[in-house]
Amino acid sequence: MKISIKRYHATRQPPSITQSFEIEEGVTLLEALQSIKAREDATLTFRAGCRSGVCGSCAVRVNGREVLACAYKPKEGDLVEPLRNEAVVKDLVVDQKEAFATLPRARAWLQAYDEAAVVTPEEEKRTEIQSDCILCHSCYSACPVLETLPEFLGPFALTRAWRYVADPREADPKSHIDAVQHAGVWDCTLCGECTAVCPQGIDPKGDITLLRTKSAQYGYLDPNMQSFGSFGLDF
Ligand code: SF4
Ligand code: SF4
Ligand code: FES
Repeated sequence: MKISIKRYHATRQPPSITQSFEIEEGVTLLEALQSIKAREDATLTFRAGCRSGVCGSCAVRVNGREVLACAYKPKEGDLVEPLRNEAVVKDLVVDQKEAFATLPRARAWLQAYDEAAVVTPEEEKRTEIQSDCILCHSCYSACPVLETLPEFLGPFALTRAWRYVADPREADPKSHIDAVQHAGVWDCTLCGECTAVCPQGIDPKGDITLLRTKSAQYGYLDPNMQSFGSFGLDF
């Protein structure tokens, strides 16, 4: 069976090429990549760790859809590419620096600990799923907004921000809400691509909707609606 891999090397001419490789049937994409590297081309570059869907490091795109290479079984003619919305370093490896920087921008951790807070099992359930995020960047790659607004906080930082807004132990939920107003909750188009590709079943789109509701409770307005309003008055 044959698959194609989009390869990139900054100093090669041209830097980007698509190469075809013969692979064994029934193996995972990660096993196929490892076999190509061991037997055919030692320069093939990709990222992987746990080989069992836990570390999130092996995410790539296959035929335009984000998958974990260690969990995906290739099919004849598949095209394997690096994730989008992050600069390619080499072949299937992207530079994750900018995407990771969205976490501190969204204040995606506990800001003030309320020691008196009691967490019920129901409340714990509400924030459990977001804690399963393996930071694979699949949702970040699938998000169409990042193509036109690179400073957008993106789905995994926003879903993690919601996790702490909804946590009863957070004594300062507003600090998260304040942090996600610029290039954040209101810039999402609610297309749902992030939710569709998440290997952990997390729903960033749903969490962004909840962040919007909470933002409104703190007095924030959708800036797009505000401009419609002033347009109406001027007209
Ligand atoms: S729902 Fe929002 S965050 Fe998710 S992919 Fe669409 S635009 Fe991006
Ligand atoms: S929310 Fe899902 S798709 Fe996004 S980084 Fe976390 S695990 Fe990956
Ligand atoms: S190698 Fe860890 S998730 Fe695939």
